[in-house]
Amino acid sequence: MTTRKVYIKCFGCQMNKLDSSLVAAALRAAGFEMTDKATDADAVVINTCSVREHAEARVFSHLGHLKHMKKSRPGLVVAVMGCMAQRLGESLLAHEAVNIVVGPHQIPQMPDMLTAALETNGPAVRIAVTQHIRTPDDAAAAEHLDAFETAYDSDENHIKSQAFVRIMRGCNNFCSYCVVPYVRGPEVSRPPRAIMEQIRKLADQGIQQVTLLGQTVNSYAYSAGERTYKLADLLEMASEIEGIHWLRFVTSHPGAFDNSILNAMARLPKVCPYLHIPAQSGSDSILAAMNRRYTAQHYLDLLAKARAIVPDIAIAGDFIVGFPGETDEDFEATAALVRAACYKNIFVFKYSPRPGTRAEQKLADSVPSEIKQQRNHALLALQNEIAADYNSRFLGRELEVLVEGLSKKPHLNNAQEAGHPQLVGRTATDYIVVFNGPESLTGRFARIRIDQTSALTLFGRPV
Ligand code: 5AD
Ligand code: SF4
Repeated sequence: MTTRKVYIKCFGCQMNKLDSSLVAAALRAAGFEMTDKATDADAVVINTCSVREHAEARVFSHLGHLKHMKKSRPGLVVAVMGCMAQRLGESLLAHEAVNIVVGPHQIPQMPDMLTAALETNGPAVRIAVTQHIRTPDDAAAAEHLDAFETAYDSDENHIKSQAFVRIMRGCNNFCSYCVVPYVRGPEVSRPPRAIMEQIRKLADQGIQQVTLLGQTVNSYAYSAGERTYKLADLLEMASEIEGIHWLRFVTSHPGAFDNSILNAMARLPKVCPYLHIPAQSGSDSILAAMNRRYTAQHYLDLLAKARAIVPDIAIAGDFIVGFPGETDEDFEATAALVRAACYKNIFVFKYSPRPGTRAEQKLADSVPSEIKQQRNHALLALQNEIAADYNSRFLGRELEVLVEGLSKKPHLNNAQEAGHPQLVGRTATDYIVVFNGPESLTGRFARIRIDQTSALTLFGRPV
């Protein structure tokens, strides 16, 4: 029998990228071959995101193309996995293109399901395995998922010598706008032993940078006997693993952010001085309506404390503009927070009502889309201005970067430099650095002297 080819299309966050690469590794182990073209594939797997309506619309548009493709290739099998699969469940099977629907907690079953669907020649098979993931956790299922996670690695980034390791699943915060707790279920922290085993294995394979992943990594807690392990303990334990040079973690929630994490960052040289810590808004009344459980002042105090403990720390944040009831004054408060926070960068999103969330059920989506657009633009423009100014302090400085590879969109500034292509690297603080150098530097550390800066990028030359 010829080898079956699978094309995986991934939408959404780092969690999804990790799930996609775990599934790819499991499929390879089961004898499938990966392809990067849907037209070559016997099966297409779409990993989906539900966080905004736009993300779901893109998936439906993709499914539209696949439906069309199936007219000439009726044997093509299409599987939908991830958050949208969990949110919409069996109803997705009504879509002509879809054969298989797999929730985020059932991904270990993907190889068997694709095999079964391909054997019976696609169109006849309709399978959904999303379960109600908020019912009391089935311990056997949780263990199965953890074993799957430990067995397969995030392999996509090996060439860049980076990998992602999940430390927890789910979220308990129930921010009023957010669908994640409904589709990813309650928080479950993975055992430290499994996490360390995985990092050790990655280090043996040449991985030098590991990013610990979770929706709220600062609430990581795992009890074993007398002891409860927290994120700071994981950082400490992972720091001892030979071969790992840089450790990161995303994402943090500003409530209950303990000093132990900042102290670990200050004390442990491998822990990158970088914090992604979304504020979402700078208005206390909007923060309350979002159920974020902190005030703007608490947030700014936390950043001040972080900077006192880790002087070089770089901070990134997320914001939602146009949340129901957001007035000009509320937006001004957000702009004031951005001014005060001195971020490295921010991500700004227009509020999108998500079915089933408290905001969607209780609050009208009252801010017109033109105003959302304006606020989105204004906030990014403000941040750009601040960062462009702030980044000039890097001029003349030498920074260590982990080289990620060829620059995808060559920057004009120094695209033509003698003999070498333009490369991109990142500092420990997550700044993007563009420079010319041999491609063989990919996946390695290099020292770059900065000679030009902009709001989002630093430019320089290898030392
Ligand atoms: N609408 C807009 N943005 C959202 N986010 C989460 N839910 C929504 C929503 N309903 C944003 C938050 C979060 C980021 C991952 O996505 O800013 O931090
Ligand atoms: Fe969503 Fe809030 Fe949980 Fe983040 S912390 S995943 S925004 S509910």
